Amino acid sequence: MAHKVSSRELGLILGARLLKTEDLHYGYWVPGQEVTLRNLPAAQTAHSDYLLSKIPAGVKTILDVGCGTGHVAQLLLQRGYEVECVSPAPLLTEVARKRLGPDVTIYPTTLEALDTASTYDLVLFSESFQYISPDESLPRVLELLNPDGHLLLCDFFALPSDGDSALSGGHPLDRFYTTLATYPYVLTFDEDITAQTAPNLQVIDDMLRDYFIPVWETLAYYFRTNKPWLVRLLRPFLRKRIEKLEFKYFSRSRTAEAFIRHKSYRCMLLSRSGAGS
Ligand SMILES: C[S@@+](CC[C@H](N)C(=O)[O-])C[C@H]1O[C@@H](n2cnc3c(N)ncnc32)[C@H](O)[C@@H]1O
Repeated sequence: MAHKVSSRELGLILGARLLKTEDLHYGYWVPGQEVTLRNLPAAQTAHSDYLLSKIPAGVKTILDVGCGTGHVAQLLLQRGYEVECVSPAPLLTEVARKRLGPDVTIYPTTLEALDTASTYDLVLFSESFQYISPDESLPRVLELLNPDGHLLLCDFFALPSDGDSALSGGHPLDRFYTTLATYPYVLTFDEDITAQTAPNLQVIDDMLRDYFIPVWETLAYYFRTNKPWLVRLLRPFLRKRIEKLEFKYFSRSRTAEAFIRHKSYRCMLLSRSGAGS
């Protein structure tokens, strides 16, 4: 039987298809680079290169948690790492399977439900860390790491100013540090790449302005004028959802400046206490 697609999975797949990109993570933009949809794949490649450059020497085996389309895993394999993946989203898992071939193990489950006796030199979260509570991911990763292993994560966190901004997602950064301190990890590095990743919001905002808002407004006009009875009928059921959608996507508040104000995009390497010593 065909599986049901969650709205989160749908969003990720739709985004990748509309943006015509193989990656589901942000781009890493350098000063002077024109921030356009056309340059997004190049910026995403730069992001993957940045991420891979952070893998410590000596790492051989990697678990890619939330592998998306499998593109990052493919790059890791090309660089000679042994890679296994975790992918709870069936549609994305299919895409990753096609890309990686039958020899790469993809666990079709969440990290929380992952049942394996395997352990790894490095557990990677490329923009998948925000989907799992640190109270669950941090202890689970300790079980999955070899004695000298590392957790590498690249993701954004929410700043205290986040409040009710239109930008959702990200664990609260201050609470994350507090939780982290309760586990035997050493924060080997913690780089802030918010400035390099914020331009992605501009790409999305341009797309919303140029395509989605005009389509949305035209459809709304059509239904108000041609099908007022339908609007009246559906309004009580859909009003709250539509207001939320309009605030989130069409209020033009998903900007690079808002991202810089409300989020902190970070790349962190957490090593098991005693790793490398
Ligand atoms: C934004 S995408 C990032 C995909 C990929 N890592 C990349 O860098 O392009 C988020 C990924 O996290 C996965 N994910 C969401 N919840 C998860 C969970 N509880 N356990 C493991 N992966 C999860 C999604 O299926 C998706 O593959």
